[in-house]
Amino acid sequence: MYLTAIDLGSAQIKALVSEVKKDGSLAILKVVKRKSAGIKRGEIVSCEELVKELIEVLEEIKHFDKKSLKSVVFGISGTKSRFNVSRAAVSIPRPNFEILQEDVDRVIRESMAINLPAGWQIIHSLPREFIIDDIEVEGMDVVGLSGRKLEANVVLISVFSSIYNNFLKTKNLIFGKKNDYDGGIIFSPLAAARAVLSSHQKDLGVALIDIGWGTTSLSVWQEGRILMTKVLPVGSGNITNDLAVGLKCSPEAAEEIKVSLGFALAREVSSKEKVDLEIGEETIEVSKRYIAEIIEARIVEIFNLVGQELKNIGRWAKLPAGVVLSGGGAKLAGVSDLARQELKLSAQLGLPAMEEFEIANQIIESQLNDPEMAVAAGLLLARVDNLFRKGFSSSSRIGSRLIDEPWWKKIFKTFMISD
Ligand SMILES: Nc1ncnc2c1ncn2[C@@H]1O[C@H](COP(=O)(O)OP(=O)(O)OP(=O)(O)O)[C@@H](O)[C@H]1O
Ligand SMILES: [Mg+2]
Repeated sequence: MYLTAIDLGSAQIKALVSEVKKDGSLAILKVVKRKSAGIKRGEIVSCEELVKELIEVLEEIKHFDKKSLKSVVFGISGTKSRFNVSRAAVSIPRPNFEILQEDVDRVIRESMAINLPAGWQIIHSLPREFIIDDIEVEGMDVVGLSGRKLEANVVLISVFSSIYNNFLKTKNLIFGKKNDYDGGIIFSPLAAARAVLSSHQKDLGVALIDIGWGTTSLSVWQEGRILMTKVLPVGSGNITNDLAVGLKCSPEAAEEIKVSLGFALAREVSSKEKVDLEIGEETIEVSKRYIAEIIEARIVEIFNLVGQELKNIGRWAKLPAGVVLSGGGAKLAGVSDLARQELKLSAQLGLPAMEEFEIANQIIESQLNDPEMAVAAGLLLARVDNLFRKGFSSSSRIGSRLIDEPWWKKIFKTFMISD
């Protein structure tokens, strides 16, 4: 079967068409990228504007093979998202106290009954720890064990209703309300982590920072468990805007300067190095140091926000596997060095785990082997985990059990993070 992932980013729509083999392995067949519209800070703000661009992406996918749109998984993001941990307990109503899957489902459902403010929609419920008769269980497989009381700490990820409703509206505009296809949504920071982080890193303690155009998203892991996620309202687009102001040039020219000449560590750039920038009719001479100073100031601000989040959960400078940087913004030269300096942790560029994919040709390989493809690649992997790898035990698994229903009814999806 085909499976297509669509990452709706603030700057770019990124789609991956894949074939899922019988054994659950994934072959990437096509990569489509196109500028996006109608998305601000990761959130759909104009369905109509987005649909105009999305239709072009879907046409290209359909042109490749009509069947490739029968199963689609979308990323969902936005700064109006929440991460909560909820604890719930159920008693085991059997004479032999054997725990069945239905008890696990019950305790997860109970955990979802927490008081979310009105207008918030839970999109994931991820059991994080199970406790049987006050003893914490190693691992996530509690079915078959026995006890009088089953408790769970469940991570709930929710988005504000505007995010969810605009997503549904977009889906209906492009696919209609017919249900002859199957699909799902996954919170983008979780998808990026699935593609980029190894189980070893998640065990040791690691943060994934995905620097997009309008957002920087963060997920922090330790002992194989997710500690927090957050979508921050600042990204690489802010650097472009700062350069446009600082250099008095158009945003398009600023973007080009950022990508071709940008460097994140100003002190490593000589102030004597000058470049001639053609701005409109004029040519002006600018020091490369000045460009780097503008860029550095904004990235330092982003890392300060990330650092604050790490402090809030007591992990400031305390993650043995350091930080991993994905998203298009991570491609800026020097950004890992600046992360190391500002966050007092090791830092490295994060790429999708290429070994998890069969790749049709070298062009696709180079398109996929890119930090900005982290979310799209992770959407495929997490979805395949859900569909095919239920018994697969690995800390990188984000498995779902309620995935076989029509997907727009699957608002409440149960995900398992094992180990
Ligand atoms: N080589 C590069 N150097 C610096 N920046 C780059 C480079 N390549 C891409 N970018 C930046 O990456 C950004 C786009 O990244 P990405 O595709 O991850 O964003 P997005 O997913 O559309 O946005 P978001 O995740 O915030 O919704 C753009 O700001 C672009 O300028
Ligand atoms: Mg993105």
